[in-house]
Amino acid sequence: MARRALITGITGQDGSYLAEHLLAQGYEVWGLARGQANPRVSRMRKLLADVQVVRGDLLDQGSLISAVERVQPDEVYNLGAISFVPMSWEQAELTAEVTGMGVLRMLEAIRVCSGVSRGSNTRSGQMRFYQASSSEMFGQVTETPQTERTGFHPRSPYGVAKAYGHFLTQNYRESYGMYAVSGILFNHESPRRGAEFVTRKVTLGVARIKLGLASELRLGNLEARRDWGFAGDYVRAMHLMLQAAAPEDYVIGTGRMKSVRELVEAAFTAAGLDWEQYVIRDQTLHRPAEVDLLCADPKKARVQLGWEPTVSFDDLVAMMVESDLRLLSNGGDPDQDSSWP
Ligand code: NAP
Ligand code: GDD
Repeated sequence: MARRALITGITGQDGSYLAEHLLAQGYEVWGLARGQANPRVSRMRKLLADVQVVRGDLLDQGSLISAVERVQPDEVYNLGAISFVPMSWEQAELTAEVTGMGVLRMLEAIRVCSGVSRGSNTRSGQMRFYQASSSEMFGQVTETPQTERTGFHPRSPYGVAKAYGHFLTQNYRESYGMYAVSGILFNHESPRRGAEFVTRKVTLGVARIKLGLASELRLGNLEARRDWGFAGDYVRAMHLMLQAAAPEDYVIGTGRMKSVRELVEAAFTAAGLDWEQYVIRDQTLHRPAEVDLLCADPKKARVQLGWEPTVSFDDLVAMMVESDLRLLSNGGDPDQDSSWP
C-alpha cells in the first residue's frame, strides 16, 4: 500500500515542492487547508491535482484531530506557519498561536490519535512527525557556521515561536518516545516564493523594471547576510529525515553566505541592468531587531542522510529572474497569486 503523508502549509512554497516530491515517490499526499474559500487552495490544485485536501487550521485543535483521524498518515509534515518575520512584530500573538502553539496542537493530535501516552515507549507503527524549524532561532548568532549544537538567540517574535515549537518537538520525542524531528532550515527560495520575501521581491522588481512596468525598487537593510538555497533541494531533506532509523534534528543549508547587496547585484546583472540606478534604500523597511548573518554547517545531513544541495546561488537567482520575466511578459499577476510556475 502507498505510504500516506499529511502536509500542513500545503498552499505555501515548501508544501508545493514537498507534495511534488512525495507524489513522485509514490506517496498518497493529503494537504491541510484552512478557510472556506481560500484562493491559494485552487492555485495549489492547478499545480498538484493529485493532492487530496482535508480542512483544518493550526488554531483549531479539534480540526487537527479530525484531520489526523481521517487521513491516518504515516508521516506528518508541519509546514504551516506565519512565516514572514516582519509580520511577527505586527501580530505577535497570532504568530505565537500559529507558529508556536500550532506545533503543540499538531503533536497532540498525533499523540491522541495514535494512542501514545506516558510510559508507552515504542516507536513501532507510530506516525512520524516533521517540524519546520528555522535558522531564525539562531538569531544573533553565537558562532559561525551554525550547527545542531549552536545555541539560540532569536531576534523576532517569529524566531521565539519557532524555538518553542523546536523544543516542544524534542520534548515529545523524549517524553513519549514519539518519532518527532526538526529540520533547522536556512533560507530557501524558488520561483514560487512569496512576493514579500527579499529574493522574490528583488527578482519581481528586476522583471518589472526590465519590462518598463516600474522604475525603482525600495529595499531595507542591504548588509544582512543569509545562506540561500533552492526550496526543491530542501524538501528532499525533510523526507530523508523521516526515513532515518532514529529521530534526530538536522541543520539544512548550503554553507555559503551572501549579502542582500550581492543578491541585488546578481539579480540585476542577470537581466543586464545596473542595480545602483534603480535601488532606493528605505529606512522604514529596516526591522526592529535584525539577524545580521546566518550560515549553515550542513555536515551532519551530508554524512548521515547523504543530502547535498544541487542549485548554486547564481543559478537560483537566474532561475527566479527568468521565471518572473516570463510570468510578467505573459500577463501574470503575482499579487493575485494567480499563477505558479
Ligand atoms: P509559506 O509559503 O509562507 O507558507 C506558509 C503556509 O502556512 C501556507 O500554506 C499557509 O496557508 C499556512 N498557514 C498559515 N496560517 C495557518 C493556519 N492558521 N493553519 C494552517 N495553515 C496555516 O512558507 P514556506 O516558505 O513554504 O515555509 C514552510 C515552513 O518552513 C514554515 O513553517 C516556515 O516558517 C518554515 N521555514 C521556511 C524557511 C524558508 O526559507 N522558506 C526556512 C526555515 C523555515 P494559507 O495559504 O492558508 O495562508
Ligand atoms: N522581506 C524583505 N524586504 N527583506 C529585506 C528587504 C525588503 O525590502 N530589504 C532588506 N531585507 C533583508 C531583511 O532585513 C533580512 O535581513 C533579509 O533581507 C532576508 O529577509 P526575508 O527574505 O524576509 O527572510 P528572513 O531571513 O527574514 O526569513 C526567511 O528565512 C527564515 C530562515 O532563516 C523566512 O522564510 C522565514 O520564514 C524563515 O524561517
